[in-house]
Amino acid sequence: MQFHILTGLPELFQGPLNESILEKARLKNIVEFYIHNIREYAMDKHKQIDDYPYGGGAGMILKPEPVFRCLDDINDKFGLDGVPVTLLTPAGKIFEQITANEFSLRQKMILLCGHYKGIDQRIIDRYVTEEISIGDFVLTGGELPAMCVIDAIVRLLPGAIGDFDSADTDSFQTGLLDYPHYTRPVVYENMRVPDVLLSGHHEKIKEWQLLQSLQVTKTKRPDLYHKYVNSE
Ligand code: ADE
Repeated sequence: MQFHILTGLPELFQGPLNESILEKARLKNIVEFYIHNIREYAMDKHKQIDDYPYGGGAGMILKPEPVFRCLDDINDKFGLDGVPVTLLTPAGKIFEQITANEFSLRQKMILLCGHYKGIDQRIIDRYVTEEISIGDFVLTGGELPAMCVIDAIVRLLPGAIGDFDSADTDSFQTGLLDYPHYTRPVVYENMRVPDVLLSGHHEKIKEWQLLQSLQVTKTKRPDLYHKYVNSE
């Protein structure tokens, strides 16, 4: 899968994309990341990518020219015609596991990182095909949300995480939160791993895990619990 990320802050991506599962997926050629620096497409000698809003008000607005030029250029170079342009913005549709599942089936994604305060509406009108938010709170830009979205998608791609870690059993894939997990040692500071997990009895273990998932979800996320129970 190919990710094209348009940002004025390309350095921010260096850490997250070059560590752990995202890096491994890249080295295994499961995923390719292309970070496009919008600033390189700015028209003036100061390489300015934002400007004051018409009509007044606080904050700076991402200018249309650098983004138009960047999108046209990468479209030519990478043949991205028809690839959706996804804007990260607090005004977008809330990103959920089901959205990550859908996006993981795509071959290519273009992620446009929104900018402090906003982006010129003409960018949205001309290019943006979908708007995604990672929650009802406002961040300084779309970069961190883009990383969250990428991370959630890449771990679903076949081969990105070992079979052992299969993503099928994640919280939210099942509609329930995850059950408690334990590893060695069996006893630590007088706290013991539940006997059932040491029993080797797979059916009993599965039963225990489901019961725990139900209890955890009921306590922590009653909204999810009721959705799950009503869909049964
Ligand atoms: N940009 C700023 N806040 C955001 C959010 N919550 N989701 C996506 N993009 C954003």
